[in-house]
Amino acid sequence: MLASLRTAALFGVEACPVHVEVDVSFGLPGFTMVGLPDASVRESRDRVRSAIRNSGFEFPAHRITVNLAPADVRKVGASFDLPIALGILAAQGVVERRHIADLVLLGELSLDGSIHPTRGVLPIASAAKRDGVAGILLPASNAGEAAIVSGLAVFGVSSLTEAVRALNEPASVQARSVPPPAVSIGEFADLADVRGQRLARRALEIACAGGHNLLLVGPPGAGKTMIARRVAGLLPPLSFEEALEVTAVHSVAGLLPAGSGLLASRPFRAPHHTISNAALVGGGSQPRPGEVSLAHHGVLFLDEMLEFSRHVLEVLRQPLEEGSVTIARAARSAIFPARFMLVGAMNPCPCGFLGDTLRECRCTPQQVERYGHRLSGPLRDRLDLTVDVPALPPDTLGAIEGGESSATVRARVVAARARQHERYSPTSGRTNTELTPALMRRHCLVDPAGRRVLTAAVTRLALSARGYDRVLKVARTIADLEGVTSIAADHIAEALQFRMTD
Ligand SMILES: Nc1ncnc2c1ncn2[C@@H]1O[C@H](COP(=O)(O)OP(=O)(O)O)[C@@H](O)[C@H]1O
Ligand SMILES: [Mg+2]
Repeated sequence: MLASLRTAALFGVEACPVHVEVDVSFGLPGFTMVGLPDASVRESRDRVRSAIRNSGFEFPAHRITVNLAPADVRKVGASFDLPIALGILAAQGVVERRHIADLVLLGELSLDGSIHPTRGVLPIASAAKRDGVAGILLPASNAGEAAIVSGLAVFGVSSLTEAVRALNEPASVQARSVPPPAVSIGEFADLADVRGQRLARRALEIACAGGHNLLLVGPPGAGKTMIARRVAGLLPPLSFEEALEVTAVHSVAGLLPAGSGLLASRPFRAPHHTISNAALVGGGSQPRPGEVSLAHHGVLFLDEMLEFSRHVLEVLRQPLEEGSVTIARAARSAIFPARFMLVGAMNPCPCGFLGDTLRECRCTPQQVERYGHRLSGPLRDRLDLTVDVPALPPDTLGAIEGGESSATVRARVVAARARQHERYSPTSGRTNTELTPALMRRHCLVDPAGRRVLTAAVTRLALSARGYDRVLKVARTIADLEGVTSIAADHIAEALQFRMTD
């Protein structure tokens, strides 16, 4: 007897359909699996056998062959357990085959027959909808995530027995149609807590308005970390499409809280400086997204940026330039999205007190120079705004006014971004930082006085071509915050003021 069921395999944040064919035939008892299953899938034989027996069903003492098709797609992970078990039961006639064809099935079984949550449900559910499948049967704690995809019947089950009942008596189970409310992945502290630091606040606002990368430089205790932690709270709320992408990445990483639905807030990721390349940009035999992808549509904060190994910093260049990460594998490469705002913080010198009015710097000029050179030129070029964060004398700190709240600044950021979306394309969500050369020629028109300032700066600051473009993009954002079309000399001058030089 043959049974055929639908499930899916993940590639990056994409899902592709996989068919599980189960044949139970007379012959010497055995259980073979064909169709490029990886070791993690071959292990499912033992789980499936125990789960079927421990759920009170009979495990056939026959020859069982499981084929996973298409054969050229590498199958990884434990989510094939449930379709394989149901296929064996269907081949024996224990499970009705009528409804199976309309459903995508997935879930990891434990030996007692209970079902564990699985990762990547949102992309799998979206793909199922796209392929015209009527419904999805999956672990109960993933049901909310699947219900985000409207028009798909979602059946959440917590054991093999429940799954069998759902297929045999569909009327007895209620399909889930309403996703749980969106959850926040972080509360952001308010900018009003930061006293003084007028220049840093301005740089922060410009960076958020145009999606530019930002570097904060200052002595220990100056408030760099404090300021950086407030960046994500200044960005506009995620659009629905953005929230879908953010949720899909977190789902594939296995980082969605159980039972949750759409993620509502902008990601803020702050990896430690001991992070490996793979953890930063993604990797693994079963490719998982790294920090740059978990920060997609949000902020990647590298505190004490020069403590990161140079090698690790260099791998940031591809995602910074392309907005995505490609993890090449022999079978098929995975692409993860990675459009994030990079925020870095560093001390100005090894001891930290260079330029400080309160404490004396003990570093030699050579030490200072070597320190700065840990950031490579190409990476420096991509840090659009660099701002000094001086230490405020502790005894005066209390007397300095707190500044504007995050909500006030965010309102201006939202208005400036609205101008950009209107100008470029309302649907792409493109910001100034992502301007192509063609769009720059059209939309970054500089008036004659501005052009003179820019030309003078190219020689004075030895700007690279990339640096030049980046200055222009930042100036575009400054003009957008002001609500003017043409870029003027003062916009260029302010953008140059935030340009890091040697
Ligand atoms: N401008 C400021 N306004 C309010 N508190 C500040 C300010 N600067 C520093 N602080 C206080 O000092 C602490 C240390 O700041 P931190 O962000 O850790 O400094 P850094 O990262 O530059 O070493 C903060 O948690 C905050 O309590
Ligand atoms: Mg700090």
